[in-house]
Amino acid sequence: MEPDPIRQAAELLAGASSIVISSGAGMSAESGVPTFRDENGYWSRFNPAELATVAAFRKAPARVWEWYRLRRQALAKVEPHAGHRKLAEWESRVPGFTVVTQNVDGLHHRAGSRNVVELHGRLDEVRCVHCAFVRRDLEDLGAEPHCPTCGDWLRPGVVWFGEMLPTGAFEQATAAVERCDVLIVIGTSGVVQPAASLAELAASHGAKVVEINPAETPISSLAHACVRSGCRDAIVEIDAAWCGISRTLGGFQGG
Ligand code: APR
Repeated sequence: MEPDPIRQAAELLAGASSIVISSGAGMSAESGVPTFRDENGYWSRFNPAELATVAAFRKAPARVWEWYRLRRQALAKVEPHAGHRKLAEWESRVPGFTVVTQNVDGLHHRAGSRNVVELHGRLDEVRCVHCAFVRRDLEDLGAEPHCPTCGDWLRPGVVWFGEMLPTGAFEQATAAVERCDVLIVIGTSGVVQPAASLAELAASHGAKVVEINPAETPISSLAHACVRSGCRDAIVEIDAAWCGISRTLGGFQGG
């Protein structure tokens, strides 16, 4: 009989002292934020080359801003779900706990996670294309926002295709992965680099990889356990099993 991946994941967590979570758009799907490559995801309705590249912004900044303005407005209406909140609780159970996310929605922070590495920036951040001006809010900046300091265009504070990640972000992520005992990969199609390489890095350092995703991905073959369900239920069930194990051990061992 196939081992229960929920139980397997919980046993790995119960024996870990350093855990990394690597989350993608599937983590936010159950908060109502569309993913990118699923059937009704963003890239099935919009062309990333026209909306999520520096060239697209240079060519038609107002069109790019219209798309991000709609996403920012939608973000103001969504909330973290029980899975986000459980991950925030897990942070205090072990000495090392890092959330590395490709998501730009800030939901891990809003759920209470503190040690969060945002590889692709934040939708609620805007910055000047020219000077050092940067601001974080979800105000409606209008159709063609310009920098209050130098007057040049403001752009969304997210990483576009072909751009470098925020300074130090990937170094922080790889440092955490290199020392972790368990990496849990949640809700990512595992096709965008360099985030997708974290699972291989973990496995190469002897860490155990767990995947939470209803679908199989290129990461699945690296996983010690694959939980084929939605992330909110999976995280809540893993949490219950972990708490059960910890009760028999007389408390959380990692901490
Ligand atoms: N729970 C868990 N996983 C889910 C759920 C859910 N409820 N719903 C969907 N998924 C999974 C899908 O099966 C898919 O594997 O989430 C994954 C979403 O994949 P993508 O849409 O490709 O999102 P992601 O992997 O985060 O994309 C990476 O691509 O376009 C860029 O910058 C963008 O950060 C994004 C990056």
